[in-house]
Amino acid sequence: MSTTGGSPIESFPDAKGEVRFGAQKDSLWYKDAVIYQLHVRSFYDSNADGIGDFAGLTQKLDYLQELGITAIWLLPFYPSPLRDDGYDVTDYTSVQASYGSLEDFKSFLKAAHERGIRIIIEMVINHTSDQHPWFQEARSSRDNPKRDWYVWSETDIRYQGARIIFLDTELSNWAWDPISKSYYWHRFFSHQPDLNFDNPAVLEAMWEVMTFWLHLGVDGFRLDAVPYLVEREGTSCENLPETHAIIRVLRKRLDLAYPDRMLLAEANQLPADVCPYFGNGDEFHAAFHFPLMPRMFIAVKQEDRKPIIEILEHTPAIPDSCQWCIFLRSHDELTLEMVTDIEREFMYGEYAIDKTMRINLGIRRRLAPMMDNDRRRIELLNGLLMSMPGTPIVYYGDEIGMGDNIYLRDRDSVRTPMQWNGGTNAGFSSADPERLYSSPISNSVYGYQAVNVESQRKFDHSLFSWMKSLIRARNSVRVFSRGSIEFLYPSNPRVLAYVRQLDEEKVLVVNMSPSLPSRSHRHLFSPECIRILRNTPANTSYFRLQNKIPDLHHRLLAHFHLRRAYLAKEHIPEAIAEYLRQSPCT
Ligand code: GLC
Ligand code: CA
Repeated sequence: MSTTGGSPIESFPDAKGEVRFGAQKDSLWYKDAVIYQLHVRSFYDSNADGIGDFAGLTQKLDYLQELGITAIWLLPFYPSPLRDDGYDVTDYTSVQASYGSLEDFKSFLKAAHERGIRIIIEMVINHTSDQHPWFQEARSSRDNPKRDWYVWSETDIRYQGARIIFLDTELSNWAWDPISKSYYWHRFFSHQPDLNFDNPAVLEAMWEVMTFWLHLGVDGFRLDAVPYLVEREGTSCENLPETHAIIRVLRKRLDLAYPDRMLLAEANQLPADVCPYFGNGDEFHAAFHFPLMPRMFIAVKQEDRKPIIEILEHTPAIPDSCQWCIFLRSHDELTLEMVTDIEREFMYGEYAIDKTMRINLGIRRRLAPMMDNDRRRIELLNGLLMSMPGTPIVYYGDEIGMGDNIYLRDRDSVRTPMQWNGGTNAGFSSADPERLYSSPISNSVYGYQAVNVESQRKFDHSLFSWMKSLIRARNSVRVFSRGSIEFLYPSNPRVLAYVRQLDEEKVLVVNMSPSLPSRSHRHLFSPECIRILRNTPANTSYFRLQNKIPDLHHRLLAHFHLRRAYLAKEHIPEAIAEYLRQSPCT
């Protein structure tokens, strides 16, 4: 077993006096986490039926520990007709049979906790599958006790202010139910009826589901589609005060019984509308920073720091106990809902010129192909991901530069099997290839023969090895997860430079455009730059750091780590900024 991961998470009794794994002494663990997002179905198949499962995932925990991640976010693994890959749940408290049993889940959880890895699961709280027994009952007759668990109407003209999210598949947020002869409300696919949160029984049912998993020891929940819980006439039916009130109830109960667990909000909104989901530290612990993500892609393409600085400067401060979750890619399309029309056109033009690559308001591709497999750009973006304020999320397979298959339907383009080796079925499964839930990528550039874990593990210069050292560097100091950020403004707009600071610790991060001539990179480490550093009491720290974390001295991501012990620290970043200002980085 690799020893690079975190220390085991201790087991001690929870609120109900039961011993569980995963109890945290540090209730702010989510601030320092590096999260790995994966789908059980896509990771590793242990029983040769062509579908990944919990037993298989458990076997691959050593790999994740070696990578250095400290938490896993699992896509939905509950029984489901899989018309939305599990976001259409039919039973919230068991495991889809093809992924294993509840016992398999428990063994997985225990094995993860023994490695110091925390587990975040999905709460698909806004809607169920239309196959869920609740909905089956609700539609069976108008006076069924479950009727009021969903949102019904005689007409399809209520709540006209609500936008349609799945623009490519849905024409209305109302769908006709031929059984009870009325319309039901759905913000996503028409087979996903929205639950009615005006009915207190629904909230109770959801809390019961949460306690089921909390009691088993899960460390956190990603609450899916949070802004849409409550509908009101004359509004956009998003981010309503009533929705916030529901979150506060859940949070209060969580804090009382399970104070060390966390809630992560999926609220794809502008920063000003997401911030209220942190409340006064009494709603979510964490929330995705949706608007930052596309702007990182724009900045890299335009080779201009402005889009990144602008969006972060427009991001309001959040309570101390809260955290942003930042990401590059995920299981969904790269959403372009939170950008301007001009920015969206730019993104489409640069990253999805072929319309097959688009879906709804977004791009259904993976990171490496979007970067034209340019290693420098892939590293540049990951360097940003690991050093900007927030908890980073790595999407499975992106650590080895996996490709996508845009000829698969919907978002399946980015959900192909993990590529473990160059052998049969990418080492994902020993089933007949025809039986796999999805074929692995097999083209000559991104195919499993060329891109796989086994070969990348062997080489110090592989993307996997680079990611591993980047994550190790991030985990070695807390300044990245908890520190403040201050942007520097070198005269060349292609250089993005910022200082992260936490108490005694200061780190200067400099990201340079990949197309800058290498002479510019050399300038950063030139005798002149080193002289500036030497002329300060910080000289020793610079060289010490070089020995301590050599990986940080990558040509695209230069970190100068400055400790108070060596200097009156304030003027050091200024000295470097001054140098950057004068350097001929053109
Ligand atoms: C969330 C999920 C997405 C799903 C949708 C509807 O946005 O990320 O995959 O399709 O909710 O449940
Ligand atoms: Ca299987």
